[in-house]
This record gives sequence, C-alpha cells and structure tokens, in this order.
Amino acid sequence: MAQTSAGVPGWVRFLRARIPVNIEVFEELSKEPIPNHMKNWWYALGGTPLMLLMIQAATGILLTFYYRPSPEGAWETVHKISTEVPFGWFIRSVHHWAANLMIVAVALHLIRVFFTGAFRKPRELNWMVGSGLLMVTLGFGFTGYALVNDQLSFWAATVGTNVAAQTPLIGEWILHLLRGGAEVGPTTLTRFFVFHIGALPSIMMVLVAAHVFLIRIHGVMELDAPEEVQQTPLTVEEDREGKKRFDPNRYFAFFPDHITTELMVGLFLVTVLTVLAILFPAHLGEPANPNETPLHIKPEWYFFPAFRWLKLTPLWLGMAGMMTAGAAFVFWPFIDAFFRRRNPRSELGTMIGAAALIVVLVFTIWEALA
Ligand code: HEM
Repeated sequence: MAQTSAGVPGWVRFLRARIPVNIEVFEELSKEPIPNHMKNWWYALGGTPLMLLMIQAATGILLTFYYRPSPEGAWETVHKISTEVPFGWFIRSVHHWAANLMIVAVALHLIRVFFTGAFRKPRELNWMVGSGLLMVTLGFGFTGYALVNDQLSFWAATVGTNVAAQTPLIGEWILHLLRGGAEVGPTTLTRFFVFHIGALPSIMMVLVAAHVFLIRIHGVMELDAPEEVQQTPLTVEEDREGKKRFDPNRYFAFFPDHITTELMVGLFLVTVLTVLAILFPAHLGEPANPNETPLHIKPEWYFFPAFRWLKLTPLWLGMAGMMTAGAAFVFWPFIDAFFRRRNPRSELGTMIGAAALIVVLVFTIWEALA
C-alpha cells in the first residue's frame, strides 16, 4: 500500500483532507468507560434487542424482495418463500424467531430497569423513550403477524383493529388509519406493510437514537452504587495528560471491551436463531378466508395478557383499564417519585411492579392453556 514519508497511508490522507474532523474526539468517545457488567450481564441486556433489531432489518429486507402485500399475493408469496425460494424458509424462520426473542429481550431489559430502579432521576425521560420502544416493538409484531395473511393472522388483525376502534374519542380514526376502510381488506395489507417496513422502522431509529443519546449523557447505572452516585454521570479520574483512568474492576472501555462482549452475545444469538429456525421453522396456516371465522382466534403470545383481560371484562371497561395501565406505565418514574417523597423507604412501587408482573405471567399462561 502507498505510504507517505510520515507513514500515513494515502487513503487516510485522502479522507482526512475531505472530512476534516478531529479523529481524537472519536477515539475519546470510543474509550468511554462504562460500568464493567461482565460479572452481571443482567445490566447489559439492552444491547440484545439492538442486535436482534439488526438481524430483523437484514432478514426483513431479504423477505421484502419476494413478498407482495395484496390479498391475492400475500399468502402465495409467503408460501413461495417457504417452499421455493432458496433458503427462503430459513430467512423467514430466523425473522420469526428473532421477532419473538426481541420481545423476550425487551421484556427482560425492562424488568431489569424496573427492579434496579434505573428509571429514577435523572433517567425518567429515558424510561418514557423506552416505553415508546416497547410500543413500536409490539407494533412490529402485530403488523408482521398480519402480513402472512393466513386464517389465524387475518382474524387476529380483524379482532386487533376492532379492539383499537374502542379507544375513546379517536377509536374510529385509528380503525380507518389501520384498515384504510371499514373492513379488513386490500388496503389493510398495504397499510400494515407500510407500517411494518417504513413507519415503524423510522420511528424506531429516532427512538433508539434518543435512547442511546440519553444513556450516553447519564451513563449506565452502576452496580451496587449508592443512589447519589447513580444520579450523577460516571466521573472518572484523569491523569496528568488528561487521559481517562479507571479502575478495571469497576469500569471497562466501550471499545474494545464492551463491543467484544456484545459481539459474543451476537454470535450466541445467531447460533440460537439458527438452531430454532432449523428445528422449528415458521408455520404457515390455510389462506385467509374472510367468510369463515375460525373456532379459536389467537393473537401472538405477547398479546395474550391483553386478550385474556378483554375476555374477562366488558369491552369498554377493558379498554379503560388498559389505557390507565398504559399511562401509569409511561409515567411510572413520576408515580414512584411521588411514593418515595411521602416515604423514602417505601417499597410500594416495587410491590406494584411485582404484582403487575405476576398478573401478566398468569394471564399469559392462562390464555396459552385456553
Ligand atoms: C428496542 C428496545 C430497546 C433497546 C434496543 C434498548 C437499549 C438499551 C441499552 C443498550 C441500554 C444500556 C444499558 C443496558 O444495556 O441495559 C438501555 C438502558 C436503558 N433502557 Fe433501554 N432499550 C429498549 C427498550 C427499553 C424499554 C422498553 C424501557 C422501559 C420502558 C427502557 C428503559 C431504559 C432505561 C431507563 C435505561 C437506563 C438504564 C441504566 O442506566 O441503567 N428501554 N436501553
């Protein structure tokens, strides 16, 4: 390779002349110390949905090469992908399993954030951004399931959009936005497709950027650190030359240490997804028949708690309950702060969270067994 007298390769000089940014800034950022979570991976779970998201984007783009979002084309093209396109069944199955694992990973990350109190000051806004990420993740699941257009997914989309129509004040508007008409029809699939591959990924990118930006400002919460420490960004000593120094038992550098651990997690995920895709390939049921309601309509498992709850209550009460729970979830850091202002040792928030988790688990299992 051509080198200059100073030993700087020609292509580096070419880039430096055209992009005159101070590389040291990037070097400094990449060495950013973060709490050493090697001993406690529980605290680094947020990287897992991020990697699954990348897998979803890659496999989703490949599926889009063949998929057609129309009542005549949807089921047929999914069938073709599963039976004729080389490795189509594999790509589709990886996409299916990564979607499921992503829900599990987001749920575990959320449980960790909740029970370690990482949503408290100054991270309240990031909890709210996270709530948006959860909704978008569920939106991906809902629209993606409907795209297959087999009997179950068609009827799940019909029931799901009917439920959304019960939202007070804006229900009818949401119904029309999702369906593109009064019934689930040709425009519904096109709209779900646009949500799935356009609107939701764009919103996701903005929210992930905001999430990471806020994490960067606050630093990740430190293990076992006293609350005062958790409320301030990581402070790290600097040596005489201004270089950051940190205790390797407590911190490690973002690059290469953290990135290496994340890559190991990524490798593990790829292995798990490959095994799942081979052993349990994604299923495809009978083509959708709008004139024949199946005996048992089931959404994807992550909607089981809401589905069970709506079966137990009149629809209006069920919707009111879900909306109240949703609002309490989004504004949780402020509700928790209210409890703690009245009694700093209050464990009420933790107890409410534990009770909510138990209800969600019981409703999921109940619906799965029904
Ligand atoms: C696609 C979904 C999500 C992604 C990719 C994501 C990513 C991340 C990452 C990489 C971190 C750094 C610390 C860690 O790895 O645990 C983090 C922290 C955080 N996340 Fe998420 N997250 C997602 C969803 C959520 C949800 C659903 C919530 C809560 C409603 C949430 C709330 C938070 C909070 C409060 C922090 C700061 C925690 C701390 O500093 O210890 N996130 N997230």
